[in-house]
Amino acid sequence: MPAIFTPVASLKGQSVASATQFSRADIDALIQLALDMRAHIEAGNTIDALHGRVMTPLFFEDSSRTLSSFCAAMMRLGGNVVNFKVETSSVNKGETLQDTVRTLDAYSDVLVLRHPKEEALEQAIGAATHPVMNAGNGAGEHPSQALLDTLTIHAELGAVDGITIALIGDLKKGRTVHSLLKLLTHNFDLKKVYLVAPAGLEMPQEVLDHVSADVQRRGIQLEQAAGLTPTIVGDCDVLYTTRLQKERFEASATGDADAMAAFAAAKSGLLIDKARLADAKAKMIVMHPLPRVDELSVDVDSDPRAAYFRQMRYGLFMRMAILFSVLA
Ligand code: ASP
Ligand code: CP
Repeated sequence: MPAIFTPVASLKGQSVASATQFSRADIDALIQLALDMRAHIEAGNTIDALHGRVMTPLFFEDSSRTLSSFCAAMMRLGGNVVNFKVETSSVNKGETLQDTVRTLDAYSDVLVLRHPKEEALEQAIGAATHPVMNAGNGAGEHPSQALLDTLTIHAELGAVDGITIALIGDLKKGRTVHSLLKLLTHNFDLKKVYLVAPAGLEMPQEVLDHVSADVQRRGIQLEQAAGLTPTIVGDCDVLYTTRLQKERFEASATGDADAMAAFAAAKSGLLIDKARLADAKAKMIVMHPLPRVDELSVDVDSDPRAAYFRQMRYGLFMRMAILFSVLA
């Protein structure tokens, strides 16, 4: 039976550039839409709402989840995807980002961009006549990840207000934690946020400045730490860990060796494994945007509190909700 879904009206025709563009009403509506779509799909139904619409992903950086889930989301809505590959495109002949965007924009209703440079997003939005989904702009933001992370917390714990969350790992270059901190502090009455990072890899001051008014207004406790402790682990409803963004340190000029050495030295203090979870509550979740490297042990995978593989699947339904709202 064809279901009637209601798009989130404020997203219609809009680019998704930053986690800061979403209101609490937008987020609540996207979560409900994603959960409704999940129920419909998991009951064995299909959706044809974007029949005839075309999406082109432009990925100038590697991806497993974001690329595939945006493509799967478009296809599960009845739309089509152009199989554009940067590696075999005229980018190799020296074509600029703007001209590449103009080209794919001429063939598509929506573009999905991942790029190692933060400024590439604004350049692409400037060159496109259709909405651009930010699938990660350098160390900047990853807004659809923050939305799927919020959906994960809501679906797994029943609420986002009132939680205590630790963001762990490379908070300096990790774009998922930048977007998630902005989205959560702006829209939810969190109890406490722990920012757990080794020296040199702390949350950038500009992100802290950005969230400080919301943190104060909502009375959110914010605590920085250099490593995980039994107290932090025991206090959290969500342990959100991340890998060292090695490629960003390798690509930039100074201080890299120091930051990477600091991460290596701090590794054991950041590791989440089965033994560490002995201090955690019975009802809590471990999240990771993935890919994991060695900051999250495989011995956690069989623990019911390990939510990171479920988190990937929530991403499919959140991206369906986003594309449907932008294009419907
Ligand atoms: N996949 C996420 C990103 O692209 C996290 C990561 O790569 O560590 O930002
Ligand atoms: N979470 C995430 O963005 O994964 P990918 O880098 O594999 O897309």
